[in-house]
Formats: sequence, C-alpha cells, structure tokens
Amino acid sequence: MKINYLELLQEAADAKQYSYAPYSNFRVGAALISNINHIFIGSNVEGASYGVTTCAERNAFYKAITEGERHFKAIAIVSDSNRIIYPCGICREVMNEFVDDDFVVICGNSKLEYEVYKLKDLLPHAIIPLDNDDNYN
Ligand code: THU
Repeated sequence: MKINYLELLQEAADAKQYSYAPYSNFRVGAALISNINHIFIGSNVEGASYGVTTCAERNAFYKAITEGERHFKAIAIVSDSNRIIYPCGICREVMNEFVDDDFVVICGNSKLEYEVYKLKDLLPHAIIPLDNDDNYN
C-alpha cells in the first residue's frame, strides 16, 4: 500500500497538541507508520534541565519500539512554523537503527507543505553495527 503523505502529516500535526515545550515554545509533532500500517504519534517533551529534552521523532519511535513494532515505512514531522523542519542528528541515528533503505522522512511545515527524503540521504555513512563490518579493526 502506498504511503499517504498528507494523511501522515495531518497525524503529525494533530500530535502537536500533546507537545510539552514550555521552554522553547516550539511544538513538534511526529507520526510514524510501520510496515503493517500501525501509526505511532509522538511530540517533543522538554525539561527544566534542557538536556533532558526528547524530540517528537524519537518519542514516536520509542513508543513503537516499546510496543513491539520493529519495521517502519515512514515518519512525518511538523511544527507550528512556516519553515519545513528536518530531524536532528540524534533522531536520524535512532531512525537508522530500525529502518531499511526505503524508509522516508516527510518533512513538513504548518501548512502541511512537505519535502520527502530517504533517511540514507539525510544520514550518509551511518554507523554500522560493530559485528557486521570490519571498519573498526
Ligand atoms: N525538536 C523536535 O522535537 N524535533 C525536531 O526535529 C527539531 C527539534 C524539538 C526539541 C525541542 O523541544 C524544540 O523542538 C526546540 O528545539
């Protein structure tokens, strides 16, 4: 089944209502769809010790992973900004842990305009697990 980008973006936009962002006032919502078409939403959660903040994308992934899902097709992300947002480096690494080469990141803005990227283009030369390669010898 083809991914409905706009539907996933709308789910991400809805997820913003659960954002906890009193420090940045920058609400972000994400919607992750698995290979069996389950959708997991996430929003950013901040803390007074700013470093504890977790992005919307990671929260969507952690929710899915901790509910047993392991294979994913796409994630959509949006904020309240007119600017399209892109996942941070840490989130790209977390995504890379659980997806294959076809996984796409749908980066949107508040008007649900969007750009679609393959994760492997957003994260070139990703880390490969130690036991699967000989780069670290
Ligand atoms: N944030 C996300 O949730 N996802 C992104 O892709 C960009 C940044 C959050 C982290 C923090 O709560 C706020 O946006 C400002 O950086």
